[in-house]
Amino acid sequence: MPATKSKSKASTRSEEPAKGNFFIRWALRAAWAVLAFTVLRWVDSIKERWYVLDPESLHQVAKAAVAAAPAPDDINFMISYIVSNLTETYPESAIALNTNSSEWVLSNAGGAMGAMYIIHASVTEYLIIFGTPLGTEGHTGLHTADDYFNILVGEQWAFNPPSLEMERYGPGSVHHLPRGHVKQYKMHEGCFALEYARGWIPLMLPFGLADVFSSTLDYWSLYHTVRVTGREIIGNLLRGKI
Ligand SMILES: *[C@@H]1O[C@H](CO)[C@@H](O)[C@H](O)[C@H]1NC(C)=O
Ligand SMILES: *[C@@H]1O[C@H](CO)[C@@H](O)[C@H](O)[C@H]1NC(C)=O
Repeated sequence: MPATKSKSKASTRSEEPAKGNFFIRWALRAAWAVLAFTVLRWVDSIKERWYVLDPESLHQVAKAAVAAAPAPDDINFMISYIVSNLTETYPESAIALNTNSSEWVLSNAGGAMGAMYIIHASVTEYLIIFGTPLGTEGHTGLHTADDYFNILVGEQWAFNPPSLEMERYGPGSVHHLPRGHVKQYKMHEGCFALEYARGWIPLMLPFGLADVFSSTLDYWSLYHTVRVTGREIIGNLLRGKI
């Protein structure tokens, strides 16, 4: 059958250069992957140089705010105590701090719901007040940042198998969730916390915003979250703070 013969001849001829291309293509892809991996590792190793806030002094401020409050549930007092401490400690030229404590946005993430007031946001750090007077429960999310949850009012409970005992964090204590770790958590009844995260913040945003698209359709809160976060990140970039 001459037709088949010529067909197979043609395909043998065109296969040889294709095979060469195939190896070159994959060698290039592998080289790009190695390069990207190396760059990402390097960028990750230098992120510390951009940190302005630190978990230990924020914990001291949170504890002082709890101790100074006229009542243990006076979250408004604690917030103004913390914000005025920060604005006195960090000059306006060094970092942008959002002092408008009316700027709350609703947040749904990992099955939990609350509201947050963004005090500081940059590419490598954020500081927020997060909480709800109702209580909520969910998944912490898997993050590329270290998370320090300073309890101000109420209690946060956490569950981290294989340890089957409940972890319990009360006012003045800090729950540190290292990056890459995950837990179930519950803000038992009313709870508010000063949450500090350091690492690669933009990579945390999909967790914080996914519920809008898959569940709540609350584009109003999405708009304000993006608006305030973007404004604060840009305010910090303009100060040379990544
Ligand atoms: C802020 O709070 C810390 C911890 O309580 C304290 O050491 C520091 O003096 C305070 N700074 C200001 C300016 O109030
Ligand atoms: C503070 O935030 C609230 C809520 O977004 C807003 O209505 C108000 O105008 C803001 N105040 C200032 C001084 O920016």
